[in-house]
Amino acid sequence: MRIGILGAGGMADALGTQWSRAGHEIMISGRDPGRTAAAAARMTGAAGASAGAVLTGTWAEAAAFGDVVMAAVREAGLCDVLTAAGPALRGKPLIDVTNSATPDSYDPARQIARMAADITGAHVVKAFNLGHVDVWRMTPPVFGGRPLAVPLCGDDPEALEQVRGLVAELGCTPLDGGGLARATLLEATAAFVIGLWFGGADAQAILTPLEHAGV
Ligand SMILES: NC(=O)c1ccc[n+]([C@@H]2O[C@H](COP(=O)([O-])OP(=O)(O)OC[C@H]3O[C@@H](n4cnc5c(N)ncnc54)[C@H](OP(=O)(O)O)[C@@H]3O)[C@@H](O)[C@H]2O)c1
Repeated sequence: MRIGILGAGGMADALGTQWSRAGHEIMISGRDPGRTAAAAARMTGAAGASAGAVLTGTWAEAAAFGDVVMAAVREAGLCDVLTAAGPALRGKPLIDVTNSATPDSYDPARQIARMAADITGAHVVKAFNLGHVDVWRMTPPVFGGRPLAVPLCGDDPEALEQVRGLVAELGCTPLDGGGLARATLLEATAAFVIGLWFGGADAQAILTPLEHAGV
């Protein structure tokens, strides 16, 4: 599969390298061509000799390249980047990993994934926003003997199926999180748990096992 990535920072590097290693063709894009080329070279080296070279392009080129596209830029730049990515995103699976810049700046009125869908007409799937960037570098992310579960929120069955496959290739378990309307809950959850982590708390400890959930 071809994966276009809008962004050339940590999340692009972590997830793009894993998917390159898994045999996908990757194109990243960023604001600064020199930094983007350096990131692509790093990713190509990290993915190993059996993987293809990570390509670079403009926002629009990465959007056109991908069978699936991932938006991995800071929230402050997301609208501009999606607008610059242009009409190629219409009808494509678009993974949105965006969180608010800080837990304190989270604003429930700003529904990021919904906004991404409205700007692009893409089949947005919210995913990967609950794990720190270093978790997405783990091969695989397994904690206490249990693979990390990755909730997905989106409306388009085919887009969800493709993203489920990309989650499974990381060694994670995809979880159905409901439709795109519920992506805002993932955005709120990220703000809440990151706030707990920043305060030094083990956010995982707030949830009971399923057998104690009253279901
Ligand atoms: N880091 C995490 O642990 C983590 C975990 C889950 C989700 N996320 C989310 O993933 C997204 C990317 O995070 P990251 O850690 O990859 O960040 P990052 O390392 O700072 O990289 C962000 C990318 O966005 C670009 N960018 C930043 N501000 C921009 C702007 N105003 N306009 C256009 N492009 C801009 C950066 O370009 P330059 O290189 O030119 O600055 C870079 O390519 C964010 O929305 C974040 O909330 C992050």
